[in-house]
Amino acid sequence: MKYRRLGRSGLKVSEVGLGSWLTYGSATSEEAARACITTAYDNGINFFDTSNSYPGAEQVMGSALQAYPRSSYVLATKVFFAQGPGPNDRGLSRKHIMEQCEASLKKLGTDYIDLYQCHRFDSDAPIDETLRALDDLQAQGKILYAGVSEWSAAQIAEASGIGKQLNLRPLVSNQPIYNMFERYIEKEGVIRQCETEGLGLVVFSPLAQGVLTGKYKPGHPIPEGTRAANDQTNGVINSYLREDVLQCTAELSDLAAASGASLSQFALAWILRQPVVSSAIIGSSRPAQIEENLKAIDLELTPDIVKRTEDILSKVSHFAPAR
Ligand SMILES: NC(=O)c1ccc[n+]([C@@H]2O[C@H](COP(=O)([O-])OP(=O)(O)OC[C@H]3O[C@@H](n4cnc5c(N)ncnc54)[C@H](OP(=O)(O)O)[C@@H]3O)[C@@H](O)[C@H]2O)c1
Repeated sequence: MKYRRLGRSGLKVSEVGLGSWLTYGSATSEEAARACITTAYDNGINFFDTSNSYPGAEQVMGSALQAYPRSSYVLATKVFFAQGPGPNDRGLSRKHIMEQCEASLKKLGTDYIDLYQCHRFDSDAPIDETLRALDDLQAQGKILYAGVSEWSAAQIAEASGIGKQLNLRPLVSNQPIYNMFERYIEKEGVIRQCETEGLGLVVFSPLAQGVLTGKYKPGHPIPEGTRAANDQTNGVINSYLREDVLQCTAELSDLAAASGASLSQFALAWILRQPVVSSAIIGSSRPAQIEENLKAIDLELTPDIVKRTEDILSKVSHFAPAR
């Protein structure tokens, strides 16, 4: 495994992290979830991502990680999405952040969260209130670092500016979607803003939910036992299952094979070639997927291969950003 600094912070995260959305606590059995988390840890993954909005995931991840020394892994969770029907049961007010941090600590079974992330931007709460709440949680030792997820370049710039004015601890990370098909962070200046402000990118859905493994093939039925085959989990992945996308993944699989790699390894190496990325957060329903994906760490893509990848990707029409 290789480790990178999380933006300007001194925290080191594994180049590949493991997340728990649509898997642990939900579609994946507890036994399989534990096997995945154990395999990840045993292979050097130290960065584990969850959220208060992934049903049951904090409990499963926190409980599986109890087997290991607390200092040996980086536990990340999130706050923003509704936890109840009330007006204060969502968002980034001081009240909701403080209450949800306590709730997450209990569900995770830990005394502190390494990285506490604002799952989305809250236009209904003053940024200074949000940033002060995060700073106070750091002063209390309940969280060690704070980050954001799917914030725009302008939102990151505003938060960083206010944080400096108020002399608060800086945000250290942004968690956007990023994969070969979903690249708004390149076009809308998010990568540039993160570099400027020293936020590390911990990108999610790097395999486009499994589409960038090549297992969904043009003209073939959806394989059983996959995220796309399950009506509880296929709400978002369905948007990828277009003929042009699947033709493209078939061509990318051939290009990956010519480099001696599987498409999942190739897709992760394509992301990790960029130094601003601190970690690519994969999901996994089976331990063997993690073992396969981690071979991406040692895969180097030449400029010629990157150019040929762009040529193939240019045949796919635009995706709307998933925010
Ligand atoms: N901040 C946010 O708003 C946000 C949003 C979404 C996700 N996330 C985070 O990012 C994490 C990863 O997202 P994701 O699950 O969409 O990531 P992903 O890595 O793009 O997709 C993961 C899924 O692809 C399939 N897969 C992975 N490796 C495979 C392999 N080698 N061969 C075949 N299939 C393979 C598995 O699904 P099946 O086996 O079930 O087909 C797996 O669950 C989440 O768990 C969460 O922590 C954050």
